[in-house]
This record gives sequence, C-alpha cells and structure tokens, in this order.
Amino acid sequence: ELNPKAVIVIFGATGDLAKRKLFPSIFRLYRNKKIAEEFAVVGVGRRSWSDDEFRSNVKSSISSFQSDSAEADEFASHFHYHSFDVTNPESYLELKGLLDDLDGSYNIPGNRIFYLAMAPEFFGTIAKQLKTQGLTAVQGWSRLVIEKPFGRDLPSANELNDEIREAFSEDQIYRIDHYLGKEMVQNIEVIRFANALFEPLWNNRFISNIQVTSSEVLGVEDRGRYYESSGALRDMVQNHMMQMVALLAMEPPIKLTTDEIRSEKVKVLRAMRPIEGERVEDYFVRGQYDQGLIDGKQLPGYREENNVDQESNTETYAAGKIMIDNFRWAGVPFYIRTGKRMETKSTKIVVEFKDIPMNLYYNSQEKENKHPNLLVIHIQPDEGITLHLNAKKTEGGAYTKPIRLGFWNNSVDTFNTPEAYEKLIDDCMRGDATNFTHWDEVALSWSFVDKISKIWEKEKAVFPNYASGSMGPREADELLEKDGFHWWPVT
Ligand code: BG6
Repeated sequence: ELNPKAVIVIFGATGDLAKRKLFPSIFRLYRNKKIAEEFAVVGVGRRSWSDDEFRSNVKSSISSFQSDSAEADEFASHFHYHSFDVTNPESYLELKGLLDDLDGSYNIPGNRIFYLAMAPEFFGTIAKQLKTQGLTAVQGWSRLVIEKPFGRDLPSANELNDEIREAFSEDQIYRIDHYLGKEMVQNIEVIRFANALFEPLWNNRFISNIQVTSSEVLGVEDRGRYYESSGALRDMVQNHMMQMVALLAMEPPIKLTTDEIRSEKVKVLRAMRPIEGERVEDYFVRGQYDQGLIDGKQLPGYREENNVDQESNTETYAAGKIMIDNFRWAGVPFYIRTGKRMETKSTKIVVEFKDIPMNLYYNSQEKENKHPNLLVIHIQPDEGITLHLNAKKTEGGAYTKPIRLGFWNNSVDTFNTPEAYEKLIDDCMRGDATNFTHWDEVALSWSFVDKISKIWEKEKAVFPNYASGSMGPREADELLEKDGFHWWPVT
C-alpha cells in the first residue's frame, strides 16, 4: 500500500547514518512501492555539495541492492541537496523555498518529515528555527524524527524536550530507538499475546528469571569522543535494553493502538525498583575492555583507542538486575548485559522457567539438575524462537536430554526482510508512532539510569577488567550466581 506523499528532509545527509541506513531504507520503500513515484528527499548538511555529488553518494549507498543504473538514476533524481548553516535563519528561509518548489513539482500536499540525523547539540536549534521560519506551517502534516542520544541524563533530556516541544507537539515527534524497528523485537508482543501457551505462564509463578543480552564484537571505532561522555549505560541500557525489558514485562494492552501500548510500557518503567546509593553495587556491574584476541587478531584496549582518556573511567560493558515491583513480576529478576568487544555479536532474550515440583528424571548418572525449560527469542544475527524442553534419552529410562523446538525467521532472500530503519521510516510516513519512544518512557528510563551513573561517576572503577573477545567481567557472572542462576550462553 502506498504511503502518503511527503518530502523527507534529512539533516546530516553527508553523514554515516544517512549513507549506511537511511538512503538504502528509502530505496527499499521505493522499490517495494511503499512510496509514490512522486517523492522528494532533501539532504541538508554543512558541506557545500552539489545535487550531483549528493546523488552519486546516494547511488553508491544503494549499489549493493541493485545493478540497474537507470533505476538508480531515476531514484537518485528525487534527491536534492541544500547546504546550510545551522544557526543562520537565512538558511532556513532558503530551505523553505526549496521545499515549496518541490511540493509544486512533485505534487506533494505539504507533508514533511524532518529527520535529524546529526550532532545532538543542534537538535533544539533546528527544531526552533523550523517553526520560526515557517517551515512547519504547511497544509499537510509535519513530523520530526529525532535520533539518539536524546540527552545524556534526565536534566539534559528535559531541556532538549522543552526546546523541541516549542516547535512540535508530542504527537509530531518520532524519537528513534532502532531496536523497536527490529523484526524480532516487534515479535515479542506477538509471541506473548497471540499464543495461548505462554501468557498463562508469563509471571512470577512460573518464570524464575529473564536474561537479555546484547553483545557486540566491535569496539568504539571512531566514536571515542561521543562514547567517552556516554558509556554503555547511556548508549545501550537507557534505551534499547530498557525498551526490550518493557516489552517483555508489560501487561496486554486493551487495543493495539500507540497510546495503549505506550501506556503499558510506561507502567513497567514506573514499577522498576530504583537502584541507587549503596544498592548500585549489588545490582549493577560495569566493565571496560582490555586488549585481547578476536578472530586471531590482537586488538587494543579501550584506553588505547582514539579520543579516549588513558585513564578513562568510562564503561564499555554494563550488566544489571532489574526488579519490577508489581503483582506479575515481584521476585523475578530481569538480568541485562551489553558490551563492546565481546566474544560474539548477538542479541538474545532467554526466559527461564521455574523447576518442576519434583524430579523423577535426571539428565546424567551424576544426578545433576535437569535442564530448566527455556524460551529463547533470537533477535540478531539469527532471527527466531527456540523452546528448550526435556525428552527421553534413548539409552536410559530415567535419564533425559535437552531438546529444542525451533522456528527461524531468516529469509533466503534478505531483501525481503525489512531493515529496522525501513520499517521506522515507513511507520513515520503513515503516522504510526507505536515503535518510537514517548517522552514519558525516555524520562523514566533516564531517571532510572541517572541514579546508577551518579555512583559510577563518583567512584573510580578498577579498569580494564575484561579481555577483548570474552563475555565480560567476572563480576557479571557473580551477579547471577548470588541468586542461584547463571547466564545462558548466547553463542
Ligand atoms: C547504537 C549504539 O544505538 O546501537 C551503538 O549507539 C551500538 O554503540 C548500536 O553499536 C548497536 O546496534 P545493533 O543494531 O548493531 O545491535
């Protein structure tokens, strides 16, 4: 189905995100006939590029998807470049002229998406100027898409929010959390609420703990400057990890509308036990990568990376125990962990069920505990679900072996599996904000995370404490061991 016609304005069009994610996603929407023949994209950036330079950049970003150069040319012809100075009102007036012209030439009824994919310090300025200079006063709709980071703590997020709210109302603001665009993250709700099997067990009577892991092999790459002021807690936990926990823990919404779903997620975030003061040490663990070997390559430690302080106190790994103090979840720990330079790139959710009341069977002669039932949601790189059960061991009557029932979503033709960004841009064009974060969610998760960063900033850690290529520091294992659990492997 065709989306409404709109001009998409990308601020930061010469940057990495635009090239790696946004142009390819728009191309896929175009090829899948989600956007009309009459559409326009305006790239805005500081560099003085010509339309032609911009278009060849667009073409190179989609070159792996198509080989038909006529199609690429036709697609790229819809792209226009506008070089601008973020603080200069003149620049916005020129942009306005360009947008009005494009509305005319492509027959677009004044619908606009302003996509901020650039340094966050300018988010507020841009939003305000867009309004002051009249760019949002259109016949159709105008929407603001805003990339992370949305602030670096609650006060700065609040300030940013106030600034953008001067120009856009909450329902015009689409705050990106790209994990919400991932196919299997969207599947969490479906697995839970479209099956009779799981929901009756989805509570503290039957689930012993839930583990959410998002590990990366990459280090900080060239983002040392940003990362030094962020760290894993702000970069991954405040947004992606907490969003996954909210989806796992929320009550069934009464309807699948944006407001209903968001309000259930907000309730989860409100029920999270605040981790502050002396409690931080018991509930959260931080790590920083040392040198180490990955795929036969010796890699530098975090403190040796570019733009990183040689005595940096920044965590590249965080693990924690989140308790949701409500009727459904009282007593069930949600363990999360995420880090850079770990053994494998993987995002997985493991739901561990409680033991059966009495053991009739064992899974070895040593009478070890049998294997608990697990439901594993594989988010990436593999997409699927596996259910871990016990079955009879062929050779021994009273012995069991663990078996798995599996479903894999991986399509043979990767072009057909939409990318996270493709889905999110599509949602935004259709005006569906469900898979974007509401301000209340952002505020609550900052307030949770701020209490932890406050302690971590004050107390210097003994870093580095995990080798590149490992699964993180020893303390993260102890975090579960003291509760009688262990991390289930994600490899
Ligand atoms: C981003 C973080 O939000 O998510 C990055 O800023 C991180 O540091 C990335 O690498 C991970 O995303 P994905 O989709 O590769 O798991």
